[in-house]
Amino acid sequence: MIVKTKVKEAKEIISAWKAEAGGSPLGFVPTMGFLHEGHLELIKTARADNAKVAVSIFVNPTQFGPNEDFESYPRDLDRDLELARMAGADLVFAPDPAEMYGPAPFVTMKAAARTDVLCGRSRPGHFDGVVTVLTKLFHIMQPDKAYFGKKDAQQVAVIKGLVDEFFFPLEIIPVETVREEDGLAKSSRNVFLTAEERLEAPKIYKSLQAGRLFSEKDHPSAEKIRAYISASLQDIKGAEIDYIEVLQYPELIPATDQSREMIAAAAVKFSGARLIDNLIWTRS
Ligand code: PAJ
Repeated sequence: MIVKTKVKEAKEIISAWKAEAGGSPLGFVPTMGFLHEGHLELIKTARADNAKVAVSIFVNPTQFGPNEDFESYPRDLDRDLELARMAGADLVFAPDPAEMYGPAPFVTMKAAARTDVLCGRSRPGHFDGVVTVLTKLFHIMQPDKAYFGKKDAQQVAVIKGLVDEFFFPLEIIPVETVREEDGLAKSSRNVFLTAEERLEAPKIYKSLQAGRLFSEKDHPSAEKIRAYISASLQDIKGAEIDYIEVLQYPELIPATDQSREMIAAAAVKFSGARLIDNLIWTRS
């Protein structure tokens, strides 16, 4: 496995791969590191589909708000490199912020749709940072396919919008959320939960599942499903509910009786970590 920290060097590797006879399909997995089984599932899926697999590890400053956890976001590059290698990565690109961003931007990007709800509403500017860094990373890595976790379903919806609108010649592949045995979605931020919070956290997914079951009964409105999830999440201790929303996916507009793909999503703030989760289903 090759490790590069400079854009120019990573591009040279990619160019050499592209020049190989027939061109090698390249799969790309962007991450912010502190890898867990969710990330590794993306790398393994990419490994199964492509001749070459590139992973980026970059805690992207522009997607964190001023009062968010950029500084304290967990980092462990040596461990990440070992895990990425074992999962089958051929190249890890791990730049530092100065390599990716100049002192002041020449062009800024704004994600204009699908961002006034869910995390876009509670984290203003977050998706502007995500589309900015992914535009840079897609240009460096030039992948044929890029892999993203459904755990960040809004991120998938926004990136699909970016790729379609700007004709990026690549395919976005969404991958199922990897969970702990008790249903908690794996997240780099789970390490910040206290022992008591860790016991409470699986209630997020359980209440989303309850909402889905409820929705299958007699076609309740999205508002009723939302209220049902909210009621079932009320008994979560030591946490503040940031949002619970039920929307049409991937448009992220209010769900109506006609909506077939639905998403129920929640964000919950514990003392040291804000956790998100969602469930997407097709209404019959
Ligand atoms: P990060 O939070 O490190 O996540 C990297 C990728 O792993 C994302 O596509 C995310 O959805 C996926 N992922 C995280 N937890 C998962 C789980 N439990 N199951 C399956 N996939 C999971 O998302 C980001 O980084 C950044 O916003 C990034 C796209 C790298 C841009 O900076």
